[in-house]
Amino acid sequence: MNHISRQDFLKKTALASAALLVSSLEGWAAVTADKKLKVALIGCGSVSNRYLPQLLSSKMIEVVSLCDIKYERAVAQNKQYNVNAQTYPHIDKMLAGVPFDMMVTTTDMQVHEQLNKKALEAGKHVWSEKPMANSYAAGKSLLELAKSKNLRFWGAPAVVNSPQFAFMSKAIQEGKLGKVSAAHGQYGHTGPDWSAFFYENGGGSMPDLGVYNMATLTGLLGPAKSVMAMLSIVTAERTVEDKGKIKVEAEDNAQILLEHENGVLSHVMCGFNYFDPHGHEATNQSLHSIQVYGTKGNMRLIGYDWETNGVVLDTSEKEPPQLLCTDKGGYEWQEGARVVGESIIKGVEPKINVEHALHVLEIIEAARRSQETGTRIKLQSKFPWPMV
Ligand SMILES: NC(=O)c1ccc[n+]([C@@H]2O[C@H](COP(=O)([O-])OP(=O)(O)OC[C@H]3O[C@@H](n4cnc5c(N)ncnc54)[C@H](O)[C@@H]3O)[C@@H](O)[C@H]2O)c1
Repeated sequence: MNHISRQDFLKKTALASAALLVSSLEGWAAVTADKKLKVALIGCGSVSNRYLPQLLSSKMIEVVSLCDIKYERAVAQNKQYNVNAQTYPHIDKMLAGVPFDMMVTTTDMQVHEQLNKKALEAGKHVWSEKPMANSYAAGKSLLELAKSKNLRFWGAPAVVNSPQFAFMSKAIQEGKLGKVSAAHGQYGHTGPDWSAFFYENGGGSMPDLGVYNMATLTGLLGPAKSVMAMLSIVTAERTVEDKGKIKVEAEDNAQILLEHENGVLSHVMCGFNYFDPHGHEATNQSLHSIQVYGTKGNMRLIGYDWETNGVVLDTSEKEPPQLLCTDKGGYEWQEGARVVGESIIKGVEPKINVEHALHVLEIIEAARRSQETGTRIKLQSKFPWPMV
């Protein structure tokens, strides 16, 4: 743990209290004299290795606290990334410790809800890894809590930030594909081998992997009206680093059908039993994982929606398909918390939208209900669309 002087402490406290009073996006830039958002990250496991360099790269963000119930991980990440933060073994201690403005939640999926709730109740903005809560209803009530306290609450993934998403969205809006009819998304690998929570109830391949395609397809085609799904478990037992041999409880294989407005249908397939020669990193993937069909053209996203390599647009009988929009423009899937943090400081609205994340959460829940009941499930949530 590092120690701060009393003067520094008072300065930080004063800034944080002032910030709390005017925590709307517009108010922020005026209040924070040093224009830095103080961030606390909870969950110092695998993904923190991607989040921390992103957060630390920003001139507008200061990481002041790190927390993990496996306390040694918080200490190790503090050292590894030279964060110079306070470290804590429990959220309650962190909330009572050094003041901060936004909590970044990167813990096991099942505890996001309770941690996000505590942070919002304590007056902190929240960026949460997926899912934002364990159910759509709980996520919605967390958003209401955030709004009632003039706080911001956001959830991963950040796929709508990529230039390739913007390119595809624009092509659809401009009618380049004619009347859009159908789309498909797929994402899988052979499954994480470090933590059991991915396979326990409340985990699964949908909230871990399918969530990216669901965000992309609804982002491109608009909110889904209804869902039908088949889910299964292909590998009943696994061996993972934290718990050894475990029984798989959540789906590790999923096929989800979505009905959008105007007769548009889309499909997501995801799972933890997908051999992929490109591995988890997906580097140099030259095949597509998302495709969208219309009456006058079709479009394929090369790579993955989280690791984009370009878009193939095919709109002519005479010309060969063209590979376009190959520049990532700096986009990285792990940028979400940094981007929303910077948006608070700049007083601008980011592309990422909380209602969109909650809509995807409702889709995941509906897919589970569809599997249980063998029926088509109607959705209630919407989000502002088109997004780009
Ligand atoms: N690993 C990745 O590449 C990756 C990529 C994108 C998104 N994600 C998402 O990030 C989240 C974390 O995944 P991960 O792979 O880093 O898992 P992980 O198991 O490596 O890390 C999770 C950490 O959270 C800690 N934790 C659990 N409960 C806690 C609590 N109540 N308070 C404080 N700390 C707690 C654990 O001790 C652990 O260190 C998941 O939602 C996952 O879907 C992971």
